Amino acid sequence: MSQHTPVYASFRSIGAYVPEKILTNADLEKMVDTTDEWILKRTGIKERHIAEENEATSDMGAKAAAVAIERAGISAEVIDLVLCATVTPDYFNMPSTACVISDKLGIHNVQAFDISAACSGFVYLLSLAKAFIESGMKQHVLIIGAEKFSSIVDYQDRSTCILFGDGAGAAVISATSVASEGFIDVHASADGSYADFLVTPAPGSINPVSQKVIDEGLNFVQMKGNETFKLAVKTLTKDVKEILQKNDIKSEDIPHFVPHQANYRIIKAVGDALKMREEQVVVTVGKYGNTSAASIPMALNDIWESGRLQQGELMLLDTFGGGLTWASALLPFAGKSNA
Ligand code: ACO
Repeated sequence: MSQHTPVYASFRSIGAYVPEKILTNADLEKMVDTTDEWILKRTGIKERHIAEENEATSDMGAKAAAVAIERAGISAEVIDLVLCATVTPDYFNMPSTACVISDKLGIHNVQAFDISAACSGFVYLLSLAKAFIESGMKQHVLIIGAEKFSSIVDYQDRSTCILFGDGAGAAVISATSVASEGFIDVHASADGSYADFLVTPAPGSINPVSQKVIDEGLNFVQMKGNETFKLAVKTLTKDVKEILQKNDIKSEDIPHFVPHQANYRIIKAVGDALKMREEQVVVTVGKYGNTSAASIPMALNDIWESGRLQQGELMLLDTFGGGLTWASALLPFAGKSNA
């Protein structure tokens, strides 16, 4: 590509990996004081997948990435940047999970690093891939959202253990000179004044591993669920309205609205506020639970595999998570359809 040809970032492929083991609401009824009825009514979740004990975040990420690379029709050798979004990395904090995944895929001597943006991680990665590609620095960026949330969930805490699941999703983002294939817009933002809404207090510089950490369970995720819920609905709705208005696109013209899969009630409230029809809104929370940074690519993989996501169709992604962070993206699917 010549220096003067405009370069756009295009979404070339999607892949995912879902661990085999399933944790149902009936299983959780035996572990904490809850019921299938409560979980279903308050969250829409029926079951979630849980990784094996010896299955790391990087194992799941590498499997999802291998699928995405194959579907992009490229060889792993042409990938020049590997990015992983996770809050459940293999190691706190080195090596990065992106480095471990790169090695598992046989990708060496290529820039690789993790980002931490909780559930917003995958859409944050889209903004990075866009910037790296459109600046001319990189050509083929592998982005991965992978989480082993079961490694930071307290299975005695009914307010969190019912929500989360494990899994991974990945995509190949490549340079193109075809403007209609390019991302339309990505918006990513944060507000650290709400940091205490979603916290894993340890391990970290504030609480290095100690007996106190173990005794008080500070290594587990803590969430102000109800406050997070209310802010999520408000922020997601506002964010989607803004990105649509800015790009002069109407919500009824979006074939695939893929919100972060945290709670069906949040998805429904946002979809209703935006006057989305049911068939526009992608919902996978019932079978995967909240898989944090993996939730959006896993949902995209579902609609691709079922043949719903066709080449050239517009996707609107929207997410919200710990930090607090939020992000939205408007882009066409530039890969091959699954005929
Ligand atoms: N089973 C039965 N009862 C329960 C359970 C359970 N599993 N969990 C909580 N309850 C009880 C509470 O103890 C409370 O009882 P009380 O009224 O006697 O005190 C009652 O149910 C209501 O609790 P709330 O927390 O107010 O329930 P709410 O309707 O808000 O649902 C939930 C809780 C599902 C956690 C919801 O708030 C939620 O989904 N929050 C948002 C999560 C989210 O979006 N996270 C962002 C992304 S995550 C990330 O970034 C990693």
